[in-house]
Amino acid sequence: MHIDIVSVFPEYLSPLSLSLVGRAQRESDVDLSIHVHDLRDWAKGSHRQVDDTPYGGGPGMVMSADVWGDALDAIQARSVVDPLLVIPTPTGEIFKHATAVEWAQCGHLVFACGRYEGIDARVARFYADAPGWQGVVETSIGDYVLAGGEAATLVMVESVARLLPGVLGNPMSASDDSFARPDGLMEGAVFTKPPIWRGLAVPEELQSGNHAAISAWRSHDALRRTQQYRPDLLP
Ligand code: 6GU
Repeated sequence: MHIDIVSVFPEYLSPLSLSLVGRAQRESDVDLSIHVHDLRDWAKGSHRQVDDTPYGGGPGMVMSADVWGDALDAIQARSVVDPLLVIPTPTGEIFKHATAVEWAQCGHLVFACGRYEGIDARVARFYADAPGWQGVVETSIGDYVLAGGEAATLVMVESVARLLPGVLGNPMSASDDSFARPDGLMEGAVFTKPPIWRGLAVPEELQSGNHAAISAWRSHDALRRTQQYRPDLLP
């Protein structure tokens, strides 16, 4: 999988060289490469301006279609498979685990990180059916507003990257994650040694060595947690 990220704050994406995603890029047996680009490399004029005032008036600035078009065309020209364009925006469709699973199958993702009041809407329109592209998805990570698409891109890239073959040490750890479980429930609580910490004991079932009892405790706790925090996920 190849990922390109375009931003006016490329250094905002530097955490991608750390931890699990960073290691995955360095490992030769994992198919993941991530390239971060500075949108200003495609801006013209001595001011390298990437935005302008909005038509119809109002506060803030809108990122220019012209600069985005040049950046995205240049990235597409170097691409071997048709990329999917992801535009992070609080007004997009909600990113879910299922979205990550779908994107992990697609060979090339391009994230266009907007700032200010967003990107001229013609960019999403144009690339939706542009030749050489798989299409466009405008995607939000939740019902709150961030200052730009960068933090959301970090979230989405990590969520996709951990699903790629070889990224997680134990592939089973992804299959019983919350939102990946066949029962649709949240994963239950987890414990490690010592068996008693500050007077709080690890549930006896989990210490019993009895697989049926362990499995029953985990199912019960998965249901309890889902009822407590995410009743909307219950069947
Ligand atoms: Cl993807 N972008 C911004 N700016 N704010 C958001 C978001 C994205 N998702 C939720 N809030």
